[in-house]
Amino acid sequence: MHRTVYLDNHATTRIDPRVLDAMMPFLQEQYGNASSRSHEFGLTGAAAVDVARTRIARLIGAEPREIIFTSGATESINLALKGAAEAAYGRAGKPGRHIITAATEHPAVLDTCAHLERAGFRVTVLPVDRYGRVSPDDVARAVTDDTILVSIMWANNEIGTIGPMADLAALCASRGILFHSDATQAVGKIPVDIGHFPVDLMSFSAHKMYGPKGIGALYVRKRIPALPLVAQIDGGGHEQGLRSGTLNVPGIVGFGAAAEMCSQEMEKESRVIRGLRDHLVNRIRESLPEIRVNGHPVDRLPHNASITFPGQRADQLMHAMKGIAVATGAACSSARPGPSHVLKAIGLAPAEAAGTLRFGLGRFTTRDEIDYTITSVVNAATAHPSNRQWSINESARVPAQP
Ligand SMILES: Cc1ncc(COP(=O)(O)O)c(C=O)c1O
Repeated sequence: MHRTVYLDNHATTRIDPRVLDAMMPFLQEQYGNASSRSHEFGLTGAAAVDVARTRIARLIGAEPREIIFTSGATESINLALKGAAEAAYGRAGKPGRHIITAATEHPAVLDTCAHLERAGFRVTVLPVDRYGRVSPDDVARAVTDDTILVSIMWANNEIGTIGPMADLAALCASRGILFHSDATQAVGKIPVDIGHFPVDLMSFSAHKMYGPKGIGALYVRKRIPALPLVAQIDGGGHEQGLRSGTLNVPGIVGFGAAAEMCSQEMEKESRVIRGLRDHLVNRIRESLPEIRVNGHPVDRLPHNASITFPGQRADQLMHAMKGIAVATGAACSSARPGPSHVLKAIGLAPAEAAGTLRFGLGRFTTRDEIDYTITSVVNAATAHPSNRQWSINESARVPAQP
């Protein structure tokens, strides 16, 4: 029997049918531009955007006016980092103006930092421990009088480790440094309440939480004086002048509906998903005791299992598993060949990284699918001796991971 099991929910999630239902009227009869205040079409769109903004704000404990809509987390991150840097010292920077981040960040952060470095800013990329956590003490030691921004992710997209957010936020607040967090993998999966974690800027995306692709948000803390941020897309002054461009009303409505479902269902849903994830790991380990589970043993996303199969090749395992959509322990974008920078940062050798699979469970994952996956993985790892023939050179060709 041929099956397809989707276990790549870190890359993207299936849109929830209830989200699609909420969006449909705004793709069909309610197609007004939310900025057109002179007629019913526009007013209906604007009202729907207001509802969605309120729902999204509620999910993260923010106020609606603190939500700036973007096209996704990558754009939010670019706005946060470039916008804060530019507000502090201009687009060209000033040599030495300093930004701190960590080695396990998503390329959206690392490449934006590299851009800022080329523009004259100085960037410190901190190492992480073997679980993928950055130490707040290391951040404190890296801070200089010139530090303008710290950017540390809430939860890692490959190994699921959750960062020490409370300590990092408190540290930055006490030193008067802006703190941005890429919370793309965390929002909608674990409680993210910016009332408890005083971040200044936070990026996230609808398609990671059962919403549509092409819509995301940047949380911008409202404070006096206003948080210094320069728009990176200029135009009609939408989104409080921080992100111009006609609002994606259907996308925003879908994002809002997805957020509302997460607010109401996340607690129960994570319990179920964690149970399935633990079942997957435990059963694989019973048959293959040599596996290594990457990431923090406790502070981790409930739906993540990054597993290294010593002596195996992940691409061959995946091929032998047939019909199971997982990710290999690889890089974070298809443009980036070579072993995953995250697995490298936590100390895995290239060969180990190339023997790593990332299982990402989700709302629609069933127990039956997990049982099928366990059998398939164990069979693939034991029944194909050729899976054990690989070399470090070959490991450099592993494909990419979003
Ligand atoms: C941690 C993290 N940050 C940022 C992104 C980029 O998100 P988007 O696809 O919404 O631009 C991703 C998506 O892969 C991610 O996992």
